[in-house]
Amino acid sequence: MVLETKNLIIRQFEKTDDADLLEAMECPLVHQMYSNGFTAIDKVQGYIQLLLQEYQSGKVRTLAVAEKSSNKLIGSITLDVLEFFARAEISYWINKSYRNMGYATEAVKAIIAYCFDALSLNRVQALTSNPASERVLKKSGMIYEGTLRQYFKFGDTSWDVKMYAILKEDYSSAKGS
Ligand SMILES: CC(C)(COP(=O)(O)OP(=O)(O)OC[C@H]1O[C@@H](n2cnc3c(N)ncnc32)[C@H](O)[C@@H]1OP(=O)(O)O)[C@@H](O)C(=O)NCCC(=O)NCCS
Repeated sequence: MVLETKNLIIRQFEKTDDADLLEAMECPLVHQMYSNGFTAIDKVQGYIQLLLQEYQSGKVRTLAVAEKSSNKLIGSITLDVLEFFARAEISYWINKSYRNMGYATEAVKAIIAYCFDALSLNRVQALTSNPASERVLKKSGMIYEGTLRQYFKFGDTSWDVKMYAILKEDYSSAKGS
C-alpha cells in the first residue's frame, strides 16, 4: 500500500529506513511510543524486520512517512483497524527536525481518506495527550469527544487522554458528497 500526498509518500517500511528511524528516536516523545525503546541500530533493524514479516503475511498496520523529494523516513503512522465495528485508531509521530511543516496533518488526512474511501470504515479515532498532536487532529477534521481519565499508567505515573474522532458522515459532508 502506498499513499502519495503533496509532500509525502506513505509507504511500507524498508530495510534502509533503519538510520532514519534511529535518528527519530532522539526525541523522547517518539522514543516512549516504542515500549522497548530503540537505542541501537540492531534493535531498529530487528523492529523493521518484524514489520516486513507482518507485511508479507498481509498485515499492514504500521507505515513509514517519507519525504517525497528524498524518500527519507521522517515519521510513522499506525492504523489499528477493528473491522467488526468498522472502526480504526491511528497514532503517529514526525521526526523533531521536520515538525511544524504540516507533515503530520498531511499524513493523517491521507490516512483518514484511505480509511473511508478504500477500507469503507465508519469511524477513525485517535487518543492524544499533547497540544501539537491535538492541533493535528483538529486540523484533520476530527472532533473532541471527551477525556479518558488516567487512561495510561506507566510505573507510578498516570495521565489522561483526549479522544478525537471523525465519522464517515462528517468526512462525506466536509467533502460535499
Ligand atoms: C504531534 C506531532 C506528530 C505533530 O507533527 P507535525 O508534523 O509538527 O504536525 P503539523 O505541522 O501538521 O501541525 C502541528 C500543529 O501543532 C502546533 N503546535 C506545535 N507545538 C505546539 C504546542 N506546544 N502547543 C500548541 N500547538 C502546537 C503547530 O503550530 C501546528 O499548528 P498550526 O498549523 O495551526 O500552526 C509531532 O509533534 C510529534 O511527533 N510529537 C511526538 C509524538 C506524538 O505526540 N504523537 C502523537 C500521539 S498519537
